[in-house]
Amino acid sequence: MFKERIYNFSAGPSMLPAAVLERASADLLNYNATGMSVMEMSHRSKVYDEIFQSVKEKLRKVMNIPSGYHILFMHGGATGAFASVAMNLIGENGKADYVITGNFSKNAASEAKKYGAVNIAYDTADKNHTYIPEQKDLKLTQGASYLHYCANNTIFGTAWKYVPTAGGVPVVSDMSSCILSEPVDVSKFGLIYAGAQKNMAPAGFAVAILNKDVPIKTLGYTPKILDYNMMIKEDSMPNTPSTYNIYILGLVLDWIQELGGLTKMAEINRDKAKILYNYLDSSEFYISPAQKEARSVMNITFKTANEEMDAKFVKESAAAGLANLKGHRLVGGMRASVYNAMPMEGVAKLVEFMDKFERDNR
Ligand SMILES: Cc1ncc(COP(=O)(O)O)c(C=O)c1O
Repeated sequence: MFKERIYNFSAGPSMLPAAVLERASADLLNYNATGMSVMEMSHRSKVYDEIFQSVKEKLRKVMNIPSGYHILFMHGGATGAFASVAMNLIGENGKADYVITGNFSKNAASEAKKYGAVNIAYDTADKNHTYIPEQKDLKLTQGASYLHYCANNTIFGTAWKYVPTAGGVPVVSDMSSCILSEPVDVSKFGLIYAGAQKNMAPAGFAVAILNKDVPIKTLGYTPKILDYNMMIKEDSMPNTPSTYNIYILGLVLDWIQELGGLTKMAEINRDKAKILYNYLDSSEFYISPAQKEARSVMNITFKTANEEMDAKFVKESAAAGLANLKGHRLVGGMRASVYNAMPMEGVAKLVEFMDKFERDNR
C-alpha cells in the first residue's frame, strides 16, 4: 500500500534511523569482506568479538559511562530485568522500595514481590498516572536494598524530571523508553536498564549498566542467565547473545555520534516534543492528560472528547501514512511515540494532520 517509508509512531518496536537501516542493508550479505552477514557469525569469532567490544565502547562513550560501571547485554527484555534486578539486588529476606508511576513500574514491583518484600514508596494511580511525585513525598524504608523507578512512562506519557535519591541506597532506573534520548549522569545510579526496542535496536535484548560498588546478592535459585555475577564473569556471553541486534545498536550509536551526541539528540527531541505540545495547548479539540510539568518528550498522549472520534483519528491518520497512533488499551486515546529516529518532518506532518482533522470534525 505504501511505496515509501511512512512515519511510524509505535511505542516499540519503533522506527530505526533510515541511515542505520541503509548501513545494515549494505552490510547484510557480506559484512566487511567476511563473506557472511553478522547474523550468521559465531558469537565466539574474532570478527564478532570486535563488533561486540566496539558496541560496548561506543555505548560507554555516548552515555559517558564511568569506568566503575559494568555494561551487560541481558536476555529477556526489560521484563526480564524486572526479575533480574530483584534476583540480584534484593537479597535473602530482603526488601526494596518501588515507585509506581505507570504500568511498567507496577509490573516491576509485582515481579519483585516474588523474591522479597516490596514497599510502594509512592503510587500515582490516584490520578491515573498523570503526574510524577516529588522527592519529599516518597516513603522510603529503612534497610531497603534499592529504590526502583521508571524514568519515562511509555503508556501514560509522563517522565521524571529529576533523579530520586534514597539516602545512599542504590537507585535503579528502568530507562527503556528514554535511554539515549538525552545525557544522563550515570554516576547517580546503582543500575540503569532498558529494553532495546525503542531508542537502541530491534527487540531482543536489554542493556544493564551496573555500578561496580552495588552489592550483588544473588539468590540460591537465580538462573545463570539472569545472574549479574555470571554475566560480568562471562562478558554477557554465558550463551549466545542477540548478536545481530547488538550490532545494530553499534550502528545506532554511530548515528548518534555523527549527529552530535546526546546533547544534540536531546535538543532535537525537545524541539520535536515542543511542536506537538504547543499545538495541543493551542487546541480546544484535543486533550493532553499528562500534567505539564511531567510531560514525556518521548511518548506524547492526547485524545479528543469522545472515543468514536479517537477511533476515527487513528483510522484516518494511518491511511495518511502516520502509523500506530492508537493509545495503549489502558488509557485509550492517542499516543505519538517520537523516539530518536522519528524525524522532525514526521512530527510536522502529524501536527498538520491533527490541525486538518480538527477543522474537519469540530
Ligand atoms: C518503560 C518500559 N519498561 C518495560 C517495558 C517492557 O519491555 P520488554 O517488552 O522489553 O519486556 C516497556 C515496553 O514497552 C517499557 O516501555
